[in-house]
Amino acid sequence: MKRITVLVVACGIFINAGGALAADGPLLERGQQLFESVKLGTSGKSCTSCHQGGKNLKGAETSTEEQLADTINTCIAGPLKGKQLDPESADMKSMVLYLKSLAGSGK
Ligand code: HEC
Repeated sequence: MKRITVLVVACGIFINAGGALAADGPLLERGQQLFESVKLGTSGKSCTSCHQGGKNLKGAETSTEEQLADTINTCIAGPLKGKQLDPESADMKSMVLYLKSLAGSGK
């Protein structure tokens, strides 16, 4: 029993250390990866299926980050049929960052 406890604690420390290394804040590159990934959902679509080159994303420029996270989750749950992201997660923040960068160049 004691050995199991030690193991669990050790794993906890390991995961935390890994998290601290991986979660170095929102990243544009990560946002783009997610935007182009069909793995966000189960419908075989990615965000780029409908928003190639920033199409239909003009409103992202003037949205607050909270509004944008909300809309992103609506599109994940809707057309992508995926699991919504935690608005506070690095993944969501990366997507918000990427969409903001796309919005200016949108049509
Ligand atoms: C099946 C097509 C489709 C897919 C796939 C899709 N969207 Fe959308 N999305 C739309 C449509 C249609 C609108 C509404 C556009 C409009 O009229 O402003 C929209 C609106 C948005 C808006 C609001 C834009 C604005 O101008 O206010 C955001 C942000 C957005 N989508 C993000 C995403 C993200 C992120 C993904 C991937 C998780 C995604 N969308 C996937 C069709 C799609």
